[in-house]
Amino acid sequence: MTLLELNRAHLQDCIAIDADSPHPWGESHWARSLRDDHCLGLCLDSHLLAVSAYSLVFDELSLLNIVVADNQKGRGYGQALLEQGLEWMQQFGPARCILEVRVSNLAARRLYKRLGFGEDGLRKNYYPLGTGREDAMLMSVNLPLEY
Ligand SMILES: CC(C)(COP(=O)(O)OP(=O)(O)OC[C@H]1O[C@@H](n2cnc3c(N)ncnc32)[C@H](O)[C@@H]1OP(=O)(O)O)[C@@H](O)C(=O)NCCC(=O)NCCS
Repeated sequence: MTLLELNRAHLQDCIAIDADSPHPWGESHWARSLRDDHCLGLCLDSHLLAVSAYSLVFDELSLLNIVVADNQKGRGYGQALLEQGLEWMQQFGPARCILEVRVSNLAARRLYKRLGFGEDGLRKNYYPLGTGREDAMLMSVNLPLEY
């Protein structure tokens, strides 16, 4: 498995990997993120399996998204990409990483907890959900990760 820094040339891969997510970003969001953020992917035999996006403001890193291709989920690739991505981002000296996740997204919450993220509180009615709204769980971890 190889960690890869993504650029505009990976736009279609990002869209394809994200297409089957419950809430895909779509082309314009990925295009903006590939231009403005730090986007990292995980490759196996030169195929991208998973993609992620971070923004950095001073010493605070935000995980904006992480997605594993639908047919590759549950094999440890999400954890590998997050671990390797956070390690790679250490070159910029972040003191912590923060994120928001839908309260219903149990797979993602479990992944973040597994890597040491703590739950900091709820942002009520943050995400659109079908006809209503859904809360966001705010999570964070100090960096570098401790094992
Ligand atoms: C969240 C996501 C990135 C996890 O990636 P993954 O490769 O499937 O996860 P891994 O195999 O690395 O597993 C990591 C942890 O998540 C747990 N997990 C994975 N899929 C799960 C599921 N469907 N239900 C519950 N837990 C799950 C694993 O059990 C593991 O925890 P454990 O070691 O404590 O058992 C992936 O499910 C995904 O792409 N989801 C859609 C996009 C998304 O919601 N991204 C998060 C945006 S905030």
